[in-house]
Amino acid sequence: MTGDSILDIRNLSVGFGKAEERILAVQNLSLTLKRGQTLGLVGESGCGKSVTSLAVMGLLPAKGCWREGKILFNGQDLLSLPEKEMNDIRGRKISMIFQEPMTSLNPVFTIGYQIGEALRIHQGLRGPKAREECLKILDIVGIPEPERVIDDYPHKLSGGMRQRVMIAMAVSCKATLLIADEPTTALDVTIQALILDLLKTLKKRGNLTMLFISHDLGIIAEVADEVAVMYAGVVVEKAPVEELYRRPLHPYTYGLMRARKAESGGGEKRRLYSIPGLVPSPYERRPGCPFAERCFRRTGACTESLPPLAGTDAQNGGHLVRCLRPGPEEEPYV
Ligand SMILES: Nc1ncnc2c1ncn2[C@@H]1O[C@H](COP(=O)(O)OP(=O)(O)O)[C@@H](O)[C@H]1O
Ligand SMILES: [Mg+2]
Repeated sequence: MTGDSILDIRNLSVGFGKAEERILAVQNLSLTLKRGQTLGLVGESGCGKSVTSLAVMGLLPAKGCWREGKILFNGQDLLSLPEKEMNDIRGRKISMIFQEPMTSLNPVFTIGYQIGEALRIHQGLRGPKAREECLKILDIVGIPEPERVIDDYPHKLSGGMRQRVMIAMAVSCKATLLIADEPTTALDVTIQALILDLLKTLKKRGNLTMLFISHDLGIIAEVADEVAVMYAGVVVEKAPVEELYRRPLHPYTYGLMRARKAESGGGEKRRLYSIPGLVPSPYERRPGCPFAERCFRRTGACTESLPPLAGTDAQNGGHLVRCLRPGPEEEPYV
């Protein structure tokens, strides 16, 4: 592995329940994130995206949750770290922003107090210095009138502003890694675009290494450098973002793209396309490719064993796919 990789997830599997009836939410997942890079993790609801991010944050339930593999953060395996050390890394070196910012902000403290806490703990700043830094950060994340907002309570702010505050907290602790799990899903489209712009700006300023999670491939395309497509707990395709768009190889990826195109183009009357069928629940997974049931290219062999995540040719620039019949879209996806 190259020296500048910040996060290196190796063969991570996460299961819930007792051994006999254990369900696997994530299976043999391997991902690498280099400094300054944004890795997008995309897939429909229930694919295991949040479980992956919670595993990195060390926030999976201690009981009834089984995990295997390694999560190397700057070379240190987070899965084998004592809780005390993990606490130290969480927030300080790895920050997370969630879909619903209200649940992560404390309603009884002002915005300034909460960012101030982060500054005190992580940068040792107090008093007027902390306040000055806080105002600066609120300004960086595009909050108008920081002098007023700093003394406001979270409920006074809109969803978009609260998400900016969450991003401000992440910025204030100068975290090495930011995990954003559907950070714009609860926001309306215009606000969504503003938050994405903010993340892009922060990325340009440098030092932002991000694991960006979304069910929406279009949003991922805006911020990610590399994309991993997840389906039913496994990564089915992985490629640099332009390459994935130019040449999607997994039938599930085409499906996601087609759904996205249908959503963004056409008049109001146009029917929205969605991939027929549903993600199988972890309780009803069968051997073979989990997407086989919904796939237009399925053959008998697809339901026998899970294909490896493999390169299709030598010159494909890190494009990996887990499919027995990968290839560019030839057939209409119906
Ligand atoms: N604490 C838990 N106990 C049991 N099953 C869980 C738990 N958390 C998540 N799961 C299951 O793991 C699968 C993946 O969930 P999740 O990672 O939240 O999906 P996503 O974020 O991609 O929508 C789902 O089938 C979900 O029901
Ligand atoms: Mg989720």
